[in-house]
Formats: sequence, structure tokens, C-alpha cells
Amino acid sequence: MAKKQLKIGLAAYGSGWDNDAWRLPESANIGLKDPSVILDVARIAERGKLDYVFAGSSLATEPDRWGRIFRWDNTAYGAYAAAQTKNVGFLLTYNTSFEHPFFVARQLATLDNFSGGRVAFNAVTGIDREGGPTDNFANWPLPDQDTKYSRVAEFTEVLNQLLYSWDEDFLLDDKEKGQLVRPGSWHPLDYSGEHFVVKGPLNVARPIQNAIPNVHVGASQRSVEYGVKYAHARFAPYLGHEAGKQEYARQKALIAADGRDPDKFKILPGVTFYIGATVNEARAKFRQIQEFTLGKQIPEAIGRAVGVELVDVKPTERFFDVVDIEKIGPDTLKALIPEAVQRRQPAGNARAGTDDREWLQRTVVDQLGEDVTLADVYQFVVKRRFGQGILVGDAKRFADFLEDGLEDEVFDGVQLFPPYHRGPADLFVDLVVPELQRRGIFRTEYEGKTLEQNLGTAE
Ligand SMILES: Cc1cc2nc3c(=O)[nH]c(=O)nc-3n(C[C@H](O)[C@H](O)[C@H](O)COP(=O)(O)O)c2cc1C
Repeated sequence: MAKKQLKIGLAAYGSGWDNDAWRLPESANIGLKDPSVILDVARIAERGKLDYVFAGSSLATEPDRWGRIFRWDNTAYGAYAAAQTKNVGFLLTYNTSFEHPFFVARQLATLDNFSGGRVAFNAVTGIDREGGPTDNFANWPLPDQDTKYSRVAEFTEVLNQLLYSWDEDFLLDDKEKGQLVRPGSWHPLDYSGEHFVVKGPLNVARPIQNAIPNVHVGASQRSVEYGVKYAHARFAPYLGHEAGKQEYARQKALIAADGRDPDKFKILPGVTFYIGATVNEARAKFRQIQEFTLGKQIPEAIGRAVGVELVDVKPTERFFDVVDIEKIGPDTLKALIPEAVQRRQPAGNARAGTDDREWLQRTVVDQLGEDVTLADVYQFVVKRRFGQGILVGDAKRFADFLEDGLEDEVFDGVQLFPPYHRGPADLFVDLVVPELQRRGIFRTEYEGKTLEQNLGTAE
């Protein structure tokens, strides 16, 4: 029997995802003003036969976070990069708390036609934080949780109806009879809801794909409910191996209970990755990045969380020499996230469901070795923004992680976040992809022409 295949996305930002890696001598931060960097991300993804590139949404301005001051506009990016690629998909994020489904339907339908069916839609409801969208849309504050989710549901209903409001064979082009379009080939919505009133139909031809893949992200129960009803995939937090397995089974069971095929619903956690030709090289890179934030506050913070005095200890001290593992409770390390960082985390997703001691032993030590330092542990906790997984290692370790996760049903694939450009994404494609192909768990050629065919979400 053919082996199950991984699905892989690659995040496209002008600079990398890690808050500090932009300071590496080799980081090409020019991507904040030069589109060739983010275009390269799409080309690299296509060279590696990856499913799609992912562009998150930002209606916020974060001038204090140097790596992420600017975000290119997703729709313009998708059009620009699709014109210069052939197969790779574009997962584009839209903020349903602020945007309007008629505009977004026009953009997605246009792009799907222009790209030959390679667009996907990621609905986010927005992050409430300093420098968040509310600062830029003051007359339109971020809705509360209930309103966010009633709005995203309505948004999706309207979007889906608009996208497919024309029949495929609408164009008669009958010059003799003077009939350009077939009568009855368009279907007004006459939608009137709590948030949107849209008559329709759309004024763009229907998409090439039968259903533009809807990839949802969020960590709450409401987000899960939305996913079951509308999404084809979830860009999920990475909960670790055991908790991830349980969550995977729960999600797939919900899809099956809704009468849908669970195999066509993909679970894709986000993973930030630090890759090297050898494990030691990767660990050295991870530690080189840490050097930029190494400080006295790290031992102090760990000491406070664990309940021991570590004021005079160096951040590079071996963790297990100065901290008794017995002092690590289920939530001890979660307390390490400083107030400011915690406020930036979407509610409830920090690492719910994982036990800190198990996570420390299983994940952190597994990636960085027994000589893990205080700074390593600190960085591992803080870098898990949005519940993202962290991978440090060589191609074999990456392939093992991906193969184990796929076989044990922890996930169907991953969405990769390069810590900086250029380098890591190329290394993944050059070193890890061939290893995955050799193991028979990743394509050697794109199966289909459209993203829904490649991603395996097509009904
Ligand atoms: C992994 C992850 C990635 C996210 N990416 C974005 C993003 O790019 N833009 C955005 O506005 N919100 C983003 N969000 C926030 C969600 O849209 C949502 O507002 C937030 O998670 C709160 O909803 P929840 O309680 O259902 O998780 C992200 C959330 C998660 C968990």
C-alpha cells in the first residue's frame, strides 16, 4: 500500500520568524524592502515540491519588533509570485474581523483564475495586543470572542456563496443571437445577516478549484467548531507528541461525526526550524542566535519560576546542574513567559495540554542534548510564540520528527517557519526533502495542477 504523504507549507515573510535571528551576519533583512527575497521563498518551495507558501495577516504595526516591522500585502504578493511559479500554492491570510467578504471574494477568485487554481484562504480573527489592528482601525475595535466567531462564520458563508455564484459554463459568447452570458448562470445571494448584507452575485468568474481550501488557525473551542464546519485544514499549535496525538484523534473524530472524510481534513502545526548540516552545527546556530538576548535576567527568571536562587549563575550554565528536575511541575516553565510576551500570545494557546517536565525531557533535551543550558530552556519557552513547535537538528532528525509525527498521527504535515532568510529554507529543500522522498513519505512530483489536488482536500 502506498505510504501516507506529508503536506508541507513554508511561511513567507520579508524577514525571518525568529525575533533575534535577523542580527546574524548572514541574515538578509533586505527582504523588508526588496520583494526578491519573498519571491525566492516561493521559488524555493516550488523547487522542493512543497504544497504551498503561507502569508500571515497583519493589520498591525510593530515598529518595536525589528524583524517584523513591515508585512507585504498578501494579495499583491500572491499575484506577483504566482506569475513567476507554476505549481506551488499560496495560502493567504485575511482578517475577518476587519475585512469584507466581497473584497476578499474578488481577490481570491481573481487570483485562483490567474494562478491556475493555486490559492487557499486562511481566516484569522485577529490578535488583540499593543500595536494591534485596533490602533489602526480605532473606529472599528476588535470584536469580543463571541462576535469574532459569529462574524468569521458569516464571512465564510458569504465568501463561499460569492465565490461560486456563477456557473462554470456562463460564457455563451453567441454573437449571432447577441447573448454573451447564459441566462440563469448567475445566482444572487440576497444574504442578510447580523454582520453582512450582500446581494451578489460576484463580478469575477468562479474559481478554478472546486473548493478553495480553507485553512483555519486558532486555539479555542470556537476555532475548532469553525474548523469542523468550514475548514479543509487546520494550521494548529504543536502540542508535543502525546498531547498532539490525542488532539489529532479528537479533531478527526469531529470531522467524521460531521459526515466529512477525516483523511481530507489536514492537521498542520507550525514549526520554527533551525537546521544544520550536522546536529552540532544546528545547535551552534540556535545558540548563536540566543547570544543576542543572553542576559542576567534569564537565570533570575528561571530561578523565580522554579523557586530557587539563581541570581549569580551564568545563563550558559548547564540547566540540570543548577535546577532539580523534581522542581519542574506541569506549568512551571510556562510561567517563564514574561508578562509582555504573554500578552502577545493569543488566549489559551500557550502550551495547553503539555506537561512542562515531560516537554523539557522529551523535546528540549531531545533537540539540544543533555548539556542544555539555562538560556536554551528559556529560549525554547519564549520562542514558542503561538504554540509553535521548534526543531533544531540535521536532515535525519527533521525527517525522523516528520515521519514519526505522520505515522503516529500527530499531524498530516507541517507549516515551516524559517527563522531568517536566506539559508534555512534552502537547506530544508536540499537536505530534508530528498530524505523524505527516499523514505517514500513525500512527493517527487506534484500530483495535480491545483492546490486542492496536491493538498488532498478535494472532494
Ligand atoms: C498559530 C497561530 C497563528 C496566528 N496567526 C495570525 C495572523 O497571522 N494574523 C492574525 O491577525 N491573527 C493570527 N492568529 C490569531 C487568531 O486569528 C485568533 O485571533 C486568536 O488565536 C484568538 O482566537 P482563538 O481564541 O480562537 O485562538 C494566529 C493564531 C494562532 C494560534
